[in-house]
Amino acid sequence: MKKLLIALSLFCVSFGLNAQQKSTEDAKMEKFINDLLKKMTLDEKIGQMNQLNWGDISDSIKTRVRNGEIGSFLNIYDPVQVNEMQRVAIEESPNKIPLIIGRDVIHGLKTIFPIPLGQAASFNPQVVENGARVAAIESREKGITWTFAPMLDISRDARWGRIAESLGEDPYLAGELGAAMVRGFQGKSLSDPTSIAACVKHFIGYGAAEGGRDYNTTNIPIHLLRNVYLHPFQKAVEAGAATLMTSFNDNDGIPASGNGFLLKDILRNEWKFDGFVVSDWESMREMIPHGFAKDRKDVAMISANAGIDMEMVSETYPDYLKELINEGKVSMTDVDNYVRNILRVKYRLGLFTNPYVDTKKASATYSKEHLQTAREAAIQSAILLKNENVLPLKETQKIAVIGPMADAPHDQMGTWVFDGEKAHTVTPLKALQTEYKNINYVYEPVLKYSRDKNTSDFEKAKKAAESADVAVVFLGEESILSGEAHSLSNINLIGVQSELLKAVKSTGKPVVVVIMAGRPLTIERDLPYADAVLYNFHPGTMGGPAILDLLYGKANPSGKLPVTFVREVGQIPMYYNHNNTGRPPQWIPKLEDIAIEAPQTSLGNTSFYLDSGDKPLYPFGYGLSYSKFEYSNLALSTTELAMGGSLTAKVTIKNTSNVDGTEVAQLYVRDLVGSIVRPVKELKGFQRVSLKAGESKTIEFKISTDDLAFWGRDLTKKAEQGDFDLWIGTNSADGLKAKFVVK
Ligand code: NOJ
Repeated sequence: MKKLLIALSLFCVSFGLNAQQKSTEDAKMEKFINDLLKKMTLDEKIGQMNQLNWGDISDSIKTRVRNGEIGSFLNIYDPVQVNEMQRVAIEESPNKIPLIIGRDVIHGLKTIFPIPLGQAASFNPQVVENGARVAAIESREKGITWTFAPMLDISRDARWGRIAESLGEDPYLAGELGAAMVRGFQGKSLSDPTSIAACVKHFIGYGAAEGGRDYNTTNIPIHLLRNVYLHPFQKAVEAGAATLMTSFNDNDGIPASGNGFLLKDILRNEWKFDGFVVSDWESMREMIPHGFAKDRKDVAMISANAGIDMEMVSETYPDYLKELINEGKVSMTDVDNYVRNILRVKYRLGLFTNPYVDTKKASATYSKEHLQTAREAAIQSAILLKNENVLPLKETQKIAVIGPMADAPHDQMGTWVFDGEKAHTVTPLKALQTEYKNINYVYEPVLKYSRDKNTSDFEKAKKAAESADVAVVFLGEESILSGEAHSLSNINLIGVQSELLKAVKSTGKPVVVVIMAGRPLTIERDLPYADAVLYNFHPGTMGGPAILDLLYGKANPSGKLPVTFVREVGQIPMYYNHNNTGRPPQWIPKLEDIAIEAPQTSLGNTSFYLDSGDKPLYPFGYGLSYSKFEYSNLALSTTELAMGGSLTAKVTIKNTSNVDGTEVAQLYVRDLVGSIVRPVKELKGFQRVSLKAGESKTIEFKISTDDLAFWGRDLTKKAEQGDFDLWIGTNSADGLKAKFVVK
């Protein structure tokens, strides 16, 4: 009984009924909402819970807004149309409730930033926050008040096209950067006229789709769910994310849009989320093909009971909710609370006071400042994977610019770009023509686009390389090859790009490869033909100048991999924070060393692939610089950490080169024995450290037992006593090591 009362009171708090515990501002808001709710008919309440995709601004749609049948649109982006629809809602609908207008502004509206996976490579929350801020300012100018980002799906499978939209494979990194993105979109306050509401998605597990096939089933057991997949969502909710979106997948048989454990128990009761939850596009109706609902009425009942506040597109709520309430199958209290959640976000956005766009206000879209912010983001997002004394280039060298991505303004922007414009995108070629005018170059695209298989211009590529001091080959993926519903089973460089690279290398000239892609590609087979590799996840509007800044040493690469780069697609899933297994790899035999008709043997009895071993091509956190950094003097303030206490880990980093640079120092821990098996390493901190040539700095990380807490065997979250390893270093596979004990 006591438990029930506690649960009930938590439930009330989370639904905003316990106003005295909130600030005066919140109390005022709750009163406003409750007063409004009293005036609303059931039809209007259901209308608030209904989101439609924008079609034409027709009379019939206006009539529906006028009748209070629609709470939100997605995809209106013309400010004049937004104003007109808001006018109808505010002046003509029964209770004058403004609309909330959503759009997928995933990495910029007009000024396009690197795709989220690229932004994650910056390991810089400020870069991510700045990008989201610019996106919010440009969106609000169009009347967009809500974006469907950040996507915080942990992604450990590069075949999955939507890895592009993710912040990588690590829950800690995704949590820190996801919170930063929320801060950027929502600004200091949601009511600021330049803020938009964030929507953390997809709740939950979508990134673990079987085989990387989009929309597929996931099977994430409870400890993994708690310790890995939920973590970034909780961080984003703590950062104040206004809304959340459910995912398409079923996890262990339960589709996310019908999962009350996730939506009520975790999100509302544990995390105290008081914004609203929207289903993904038709994800409610899709519970029918999932085999979880028998018809559309069943869908509405399941989702309403699970805790979906707003339905995206499939309109089962308007069709059946009233009937379900009358039949006692959905509670009126739940529906009132769902409407409260939606109205709360509208109120916080200031829409009740001013839902309109000021179309006369000077536009900040594509401002110098926005473009510069995007350029800096693209610089910090690029990862130098290989450099055998070719980079940086000298401005006196003649270069041969080759390949389909050297001048691909559309593709360079990446996936989920509805509003960015080719004409505003600066490609590397364009940057050569405008900013880097003194460079002597010859340009041979050879392939028109990444999938182009026409080899007839290969000779031209060779001639160009022969005529130059260095060949710079721009390869990668078109933007349409990643993103939603764009999974691939082969993630080598597509088409004949590898062959092109070989042809260029055959000239004997030094070859720099610049890749722009939506995912970590399997490039091991290409590495022998590249003296240097600069990897960019589609870098956005200012990718061209950013890449040239890096190639010419005006900027020094500092990006680090937010995902493991596998050698072969067959190694997937491979991620740094895996469990050790009972048989961790020790001795890896070579395939060719196995004798013909070898007698039955277990070859060392450990966990690896005969043909590709157990190591990735590049580990999580990897990335080179033109500077050289040396780590020394790792020291812990104590090696005995009391439960509830914290320790400081210090390390000295020296830039031993003659080039100024920035290193991302990473702290990892391993909990050696746990009530459940703990990963071999877990990222617990990172810092970008700028060091002048020759400079040394001692940096500090603070680790508390809270940082070591995890959901253990008894399904509570706490740190456990015992031995820990700690590393600080330049990537997840390399670092100085210390030990401590939690007492
Ligand atoms: C489906 C996608 O899964 C989701 O991420 C997106 O926000 C919605 N469509 C709206 O476009």
